[in-house]
Amino acid sequence: MYKIVQNALFKCDPEWSHDFTLNWLKRSQNTFLDATYKQSVVDKPVECFGITFKNPVGLAAGLDKNGECIDAFAAMGFGFIEIGTITPLPQPGNEKPRMFRLPEAKAIINRMGFNNKGVDYLVEQVKKSKYTGVLGINIGKNKDTEEKDALDDYLICLRKVYNYASYVTVNISSPNTPGLRALQYGEALDNLLTGLKSEQQSLANQHGKYVPILVKIAPDLTDGEIIEIAAAFSRAKIDGVIATNTTLDRRDVEGLEHSSETGGLSGSVLAHKSLHVTKVLAENLSDNIPIIGVGGIDSSKTANDRISAGASLVQIYSSLIYAGPQLIKDIVEGLD
Ligand SMILES: Cc1cc2nc3c(=O)[nH]c(=O)nc-3n(C[C@H](O)[C@H](O)[C@H](O)COP(=O)(O)O)c2cc1C
Repeated sequence: MYKIVQNALFKCDPEWSHDFTLNWLKRSQNTFLDATYKQSVVDKPVECFGITFKNPVGLAAGLDKNGECIDAFAAMGFGFIEIGTITPLPQPGNEKPRMFRLPEAKAIINRMGFNNKGVDYLVEQVKKSKYTGVLGINIGKNKDTEEKDALDDYLICLRKVYNYASYVTVNISSPNTPGLRALQYGEALDNLLTGLKSEQQSLANQHGKYVPILVKIAPDLTDGEIIEIAAAFSRAKIDGVIATNTTLDRRDVEGLEHSSETGGLSGSVLAHKSLHVTKVLAENLSDNIPIIGVGGIDSSKTANDRISAGASLVQIYSSLIYAGPQLIKDIVEGLD
């Protein structure tokens, strides 16, 4: 079934297909039409960050940026769902076209630039959804916010989503927002983490519940940089790390159509880089800081490799586009 739909959608512009699919998921969720993607997936519970996940395979951020299709993705059997990246104010993102398929490599290049409807809209969607499972909310900064004021944007989002999220992801690794990745280094990182952890403590007191904060990092880091980041996370007692976002590296897709488009590359070709980041992180983080592995996971083998390298959970995005919802079931069933 998915192959037929995919053949038709792959003949259309990638972003048009994306919008069409999300629109369909939004309209069909919680109706009998969800039978076209609903499936039962075996329970393989995992305990992480003090939360129970019904299985370790989650939806990565960026597919449901505004949280409009949470119930549809839940019906596909994901063990957890991450929505966002959301910013304090709505913003249109970069000029189109900004999403490209590289089918020979089962890859995607995107330079969306955090197009989203803003944090207030996302919270309304979460309130409307019927989902009771694990929900991550991924937060970012508006394009027009200066790098020195980035913490303010993250704090605005953190306060607004705190009561609705199972965990909050701080995205400092999108390559499509100028200056964002600079927050991964040195004093800028330490200041960001200190500010977030202190606000988390006040929010925990205010709401009487502790919501873990995870940080999502890039794959384009040297081992030395990963080690420094791991030390900063350990010092700040960050609750978890998501590794990784998309890459700027094009070596694995050289010569393919669209390979020289600006933006972040994702899909199977990213697997070895993200796996390496997971390994180096796992060797250098304090024991109790879990890792969510993401980047090029497209089978139970790649998921098992990521978990063996130190990830407690995994997420998928590009492989879902290329293989459809059946993949979620296949990965979960094939986990060791
Ligand atoms: C079109 C597109 C949009 C994305 N948007 C976001 C985003 O808003 N926030 C984020 O943290 N990651 C975003 N990502 C990155 C994914 O969450 C994931 O980290 C990356 O694609 C690697 O996983 P994959 O190889 O399974 O796709 C996006 C990826 C794609 C392809």
